[in-house]
Amino acid sequence: MAKTIQAIRGMNDCSPTESPLWQWVEGKVRSVLQNYGYAEVRMPIVESTPLFARAIGEVTDVVSKEMYTFWDNDEQLTLRPEGTAGCVRAAIEHGWVYNQEQRLWYMGPMFRHERPQKGRYRQFHQAGVEVFGIPNPEIDAELIMLTARLWKELGIFEHVTLQLNSIGSLEARQNYRSALVAFLQQHIDLLSDEEKERLEKNPLRILDSKNQTLQEVLNDAPKLLDYLDEESREHFAQLCALLDAVGIQYEVNPKLVRGLDYYNKTVFEWVTSALGAQGTVCGGGRYDGLVEQLGGHPTTGVGFAMGLERLVLLVQEVNAHINLPKAVDVYMVYQGEGATLAAFKLAEELRSALPQLRVMTHCSGGNFKKQFKRADKSGATFALVIGESEVQNQQVVIKHLLDDVEQQTLPINQVAQYIQQNS
Ligand code: HAM
Repeated sequence: MAKTIQAIRGMNDCSPTESPLWQWVEGKVRSVLQNYGYAEVRMPIVESTPLFARAIGEVTDVVSKEMYTFWDNDEQLTLRPEGTAGCVRAAIEHGWVYNQEQRLWYMGPMFRHERPQKGRYRQFHQAGVEVFGIPNPEIDAELIMLTARLWKELGIFEHVTLQLNSIGSLEARQNYRSALVAFLQQHIDLLSDEEKERLEKNPLRILDSKNQTLQEVLNDAPKLLDYLDEESREHFAQLCALLDAVGIQYEVNPKLVRGLDYYNKTVFEWVTSALGAQGTVCGGGRYDGLVEQLGGHPTTGVGFAMGLERLVLLVQEVNAHINLPKAVDVYMVYQGEGATLAAFKLAEELRSALPQLRVMTHCSGGNFKKQFKRADKSGATFALVIGESEVQNQQVVIKHLLDDVEQQTLPINQVAQYIQQNS
């Protein structure tokens, strides 16, 4: 036998038994986004490398270590590690952002060369939202309300908490950065080599260090919130007041800075303790300078993205009450002269009459016994049986596969109605 070829590490297949739950989660995401009037956009999976370097920042982990980059003749391309950069690129390119508000969403695969573990993959899927042209905090609040609604729909609301912070203007962050570096220099012996490097390039990321001793010391570090400019402070106060008014609980986490460089003002994450180390199911914030930084007219932006693998895992972990649709409702069993044609004809008629119904025809021959085995395995509620005598009499035998109801023989033209009434 030829040697088999396996999937790339950290890049998963979605099996036929897993896909119904994925479809259910994706369906909830879509319907909540539609509830709020957001429009879907689809961007390419590959973009030119400088887009990500400029948008996300050269010194971030994503750009410096995790991108899948390759040369296409003389152009350097990258598999998108996230959706914001591509969405902003498209918004500028097609003029979606000029003198108009846009509330957009997207869903699809992203790629990061990270060390795979539960909840962290090299190909993963995000559903993301980007809103352009609305500077005031009402929209930040709306995004958070929208996610909270989605968590309720998914049955995970009790298992996630909202972490919130404001990282202010670029200038405020620079002032803070100096204060933080001065503080950390007094504790330099606690920093790992990687953190020492960060101290020079991206010191704010040290705030979410996994080192417990350092974390305790950081509790006494200067707080970003104390360095905020007046405008960001007011923006954050209004956001908090709105969340209070609609009853969404949050924890202000002064150490929350997020791993991508484009943010300013609001940043937030929804986290869970039910998934181990990879507990952030959704993260986002404001990026008012990004459109301009990528060559567009100054336009504010705010958005978030959620990791669909993590949401699916969390739903599996905590929500035992989902009623996933079945793959098959009706299984067609047939044998003998004229039976194949009659079965195909009836199956098509049922699909037209009852568009929600899932009808599977057997298609692989064999005797009734073998066909009934398959029908049972399919999980169908009904087997519709057509043999020679049924063909002659224009009838069908209806067998209930899941409960103890006696089988019925009905004229073919009454089958649709029977199924509708008994489903
Ligand atoms: P991010 O925090 O890098 O933000 O990713 C958002 C979410 O994607 C994470 O909270 C996590 O659920 C999921 N995620 C990230 N990396 C992985 C991975 N390797 N495996 C599985 N899931 C993962 C962004 O990507 C920003 N673009 C969000 C945003 C949109 N901010 C403003 N607009």
